[in-house]
Amino acid sequence: MELRIEELNESELKEKRLDDLSFGVHFTDRMFVMEYDRGKGWHSARITKFQNFSLSPATMAFHYGQAAFEGLKAYPREGSKVALFRPEENFRRMNVSADRLCMPPIDEDFVLRCLEELIRLERDWVPRGEGQSLYIRPTYMGVDPIIRVRASDKYLFFIILSPVGAYFKNGFSAARILVETEYSRASQGGTGYTKFCGNYGASLKAGQAAQVNGYDQVLWLDACGHKYVEEVGSMNIFFVIDGKLVTPKLQGSILPGITRESTIILARDLGYEVIERQIEIEEVIEGIESGNVQEVFGTGTACVISPVGTLGYRGKDYIVNGGQVGEITQHLYKELTSIQYGTTEDRFGWIRIIE
Ligand code: COI
Repeated sequence: MELRIEELNESELKEKRLDDLSFGVHFTDRMFVMEYDRGKGWHSARITKFQNFSLSPATMAFHYGQAAFEGLKAYPREGSKVALFRPEENFRRMNVSADRLCMPPIDEDFVLRCLEELIRLERDWVPRGEGQSLYIRPTYMGVDPIIRVRASDKYLFFIILSPVGAYFKNGFSAARILVETEYSRASQGGTGYTKFCGNYGASLKAGQAAQVNGYDQVLWLDACGHKYVEEVGSMNIFFVIDGKLVTPKLQGSILPGITRESTIILARDLGYEVIERQIEIEEVIEGIESGNVQEVFGTGTACVISPVGTLGYRGKDYIVNGGQVGEITQHLYKELTSIQYGTTEDRFGWIRIIE
């Protein structure tokens, strides 16, 4: 398939305001789009002006949520170069989500080449301030204008770009997380291991209630018994227990986060022991009280490595490490962002430079 690049007039370019970078609010001038029709396959791949779509009110994704997304980032490098962090993993995971939602696979290599071309055209949008990056949002949805419940015959895949700063409004300070004991995010056999859009829609109710009560996000427990720790709203979770890193084992209902995997690889390389296993919430709470749980942090593309200072559980707040950012959290954050921003050698081959 060929990639068509549409020219934009000078007058169509937006003013680049890279000073206030609230997360996901501003978008660049261009986007990548491609379409799929059953019988014809993928077609009409183009880089075009960032603009609204015209879709029928009967579009299947609106009704039945046959849609998935990804999130990755581009980081500034010397001159006008840009670095992508493990982009192959995002497109690989997009196809895992697609398979779960009965959507045809995308050509991962082709889409990655199109993303690189898009980034080349939009490189001036990559912010260069501390902790800033260009957030990349690939999105895939079924767009047949038919209200029967079945897999769509038509699809739309697009990538939009947003210059961003920190995901949490307080930046790298310890977040307050509420342990959710009523609602569930995902269950065995469900869609928890994918970036199905509905996973996030279904999480809003609990997230909103947590925020009303002064928390940033919720920590999900398993859907069966609300006994085992799963993940936080927009990140995977890690605990430092007796000096070792412990994170819930992936078993179908947890998102296999790319930052999660990178953190495990990096931490092991730095000499930390990392254990993936089931973790009971009661073990965590007792551990915070006894001091065995020394640090808690989350990992994700948007939030990078975010310290957790408080866990609210059954009406009581449990303060981790005196509410301060822990040493190991700080260390891993520094090491990971050094690779992403290029101040440390890319010893794992995670970076893809766009010249
Ligand atoms: C990410 O970390 O990129 C995510 O997709 C999580 C969230 C912003 C929805």
